[in-house]
Amino acid sequence: MNELNIQIRESRKADLEDIMYVQSRAFGHDKEAQLTADLLQDNTAEPLLSLLAFDQQKVIGHILFTRVYINKVDKTQPLMHILAPLAVIPDYQNRGIGGVLIREGLNRLKRMGSELVFVLGHMEYYPKLGFIPDAKKIGYSAPFPIPDEFANAWMVQSLNPNRFTIEKGQVICAKTLNRPEHWRE
Ligand SMILES: CC(C)(COP(=O)(O)OP(=O)(O)OC[C@H]1O[C@@H](n2cnc3c(N)ncnc32)[C@H](O)[C@@H]1OP(=O)(O)O)[C@@H](O)C(=O)NCCC(=O)NCCS
Repeated sequence: MNELNIQIRESRKADLEDIMYVQSRAFGHDKEAQLTADLLQDNTAEPLLSLLAFDQQKVIGHILFTRVYINKVDKTQPLMHILAPLAVIPDYQNRGIGGVLIREGLNRLKRMGSELVFVLGHMEYYPKLGFIPDAKKIGYSAPFPIPDEFANAWMVQSLNPNRFTIEKGQVICAKTLNRPEHWRE
């Protein structure tokens, strides 16, 4: 990774094509690219954080965090986010770029005042970046039921020193993400 000089910045409206390119290349299909485009337009996802990674001028990675609530949409609730999706183009995978994007994202979210970050993802990967498997056990259930064998894939990380003192319950995502098709694997 060190021989790469990765730059990270927030994405802008004009970056949509690059974002969709990275998402489609990483996943090998367009579903996550379309989801990302929809989330970027969804005002129930705000405040969101969308970061792009570059090697020189070349776009190589993208990560998106969008607003979530507990039990109901209530803007007085503490700021909380979900990470989805994360993408690194195939030639650049396994060189630490996903980790750099996640760490940078979490630092920026913390500065924004976000207190909890959820993810549904690879059980071997996200715990290395501070996520705790089986968020339901801590008291935060996913928007749609997760089969028992994947319970550890639903994870949470606290960004505040008080750790999991925020009201417990079911996570509610932005309208675009709070649909069952995004929760079946
Ligand atoms: C998953 C992904 C974002 C990781 O980014 P990356 O830059 O390759 O990751 P890093 O180099 O920071 O970390 C690599 C680690 O992730 C692990 N990893 C990568 N893909 C994985 C997968 N599908 N399942 C489990 N672990 C995986 C690697 O084994 C490696 O582990 P190590 O640190 O013990 O060597 C990237 O591989 C990707 O875009 N994949 C396709 C899209 C995808 O699956 N997105 C994530 C949705 S949750």
